[in-house]
Amino acid sequence: MRHFTSKGGELFAENVALSAIADKVGTPVYVYSAATFARHYDVFAKGFEGTDALIAYSVKANSNLAILTLLGKRGAGADVVSGGELTRALRAGISPSKIVFSGVGKTRDEMRLALSAGIYQFNVESAAELDALSKTATDMKLRAPIAFRVNPDVAAGGHEKISTGKKENKFGIAWDDAPSLYARAASLPGIKIQGVDVHIGSQITQLDPYARTIEKIGGLIKSLRAGGHTIETFDLGGGLGIPYGDGGQQPPPPADYAAMVLSATKDLDVRLLFEPGRMIAGNSGVLLSRVIYTKPGETRNFLIVDAAMNDLIRPALYGAYHDVEPVLSSGEAQTVSYDIVGPICESGDTFAVQRDLPKLAADDLVVFHSAGAYGAVQASQYNTRPLVPEVLVSGSDYAIIRKRPDYDTMLSSESIPKFISR
Ligand code: LLP
Repeated sequence: MRHFTSKGGELFAENVALSAIADKVGTPVYVYSAATFARHYDVFAKGFEGTDALIAYSVKANSNLAILTLLGKRGAGADVVSGGELTRALRAGISPSKIVFSGVGKTRDEMRLALSAGIYQFNVESAAELDALSKTATDMKLRAPIAFRVNPDVAAGGHEKISTGKKENKFGIAWDDAPSLYARAASLPGIKIQGVDVHIGSQITQLDPYARTIEKIGGLIKSLRAGGHTIETFDLGGGLGIPYGDGGQQPPPPADYAAMVLSATKDLDVRLLFEPGRMIAGNSGVLLSRVIYTKPGETRNFLIVDAAMNDLIRPALYGAYHDVEPVLSSGEAQTVSYDIVGPICESGDTFAVQRDLPKLAADDLVVFHSAGAYGAVQASQYNTRPLVPEVLVSGSDYAIIRKRPDYDTMLSSESIPKFISR
């Protein structure tokens, strides 16, 4: 599926030529399509139309305020994992009644922030966190609405670093501990039990792990209710995969996912919560970059581009595949096998190895596809490279939604203490 299309041999984001953005804003730069973000959200939401499901967009996938505002206006809630993400979601106008707070290490300060905002649900991941939350809420004369994130011991997700639902992962409470922890939660003054939560991994391309998870959790919900607990919500987390163009396994269409979930949960009498991230953001953005040099090596042809692992770390960190495409198609039939690398001083700064592309030259533009999720949010300033900017396109309009900092700004938060003489 391509959301950035070629017109007259030139790649566009909606109605804006990517070359125009590169000329105006410079490269590297993330370019997002507002229409695609909206469409992905709508496709997911449509699957649950007529139900009271809460679609809490997973802010970590792409947390730009403009993106959160766009999705919030379409009805999205937010799944946050830090005080920072919570602040973003609130600032984007997302109602606290649509915010869930996930993560294994919520601090007391973050709990206080979320409690005073009045968020919808805390997804609690340990006994220690439960106690801290109850104490924090009690001190504020509040009760925290919670679900336990239960580890269903289901394998899912494309890469070991993003698989989360196995026993040996750090996430969630152990399956066998659920009854005693729910009982403990029921006895705590600052806690109101509201539901059950799972998140089994990311870039999941099959429905089966979800189906097995729902079956297991369905059984748990029934036994918790039999034990006298009120279970109103079932948060199924995120994780639905996207096509990366590598010919790998195709993820199921969101409509199939929704149909399966609705059918498998129809007798559970719960409000469904979802935390999709990649599915909404991934193919809504590209990383636009310019070739600095070509360098024929002894055994490889290197394409040295101005984007680097600090801008898009997924290939270096997970061996992730991102489709690469020239912005201008030269019509050249002859291809060259390139190793596409950035300027950072590490061999890991490699986007692709032996990738066949039409012959390219210095100053040519290329895009890395499927970079809207876990791209800009994982960027750093390593090698003192400015944090990569972001541009949002809507029709024939575009706006810079995160600007490239200049060097003064980059250095402005650092200081040299007096005890170091200059
Ligand atoms: N909910 C929870 C509790 C999560 O931990 C995550 C992702 C999501 C929802 C959203 O999952 P999604 O729908 O986006 O798969 N940086 C990695 C991905 C890490 C995912 C972490 N958790 C990457 O670049 O592939």
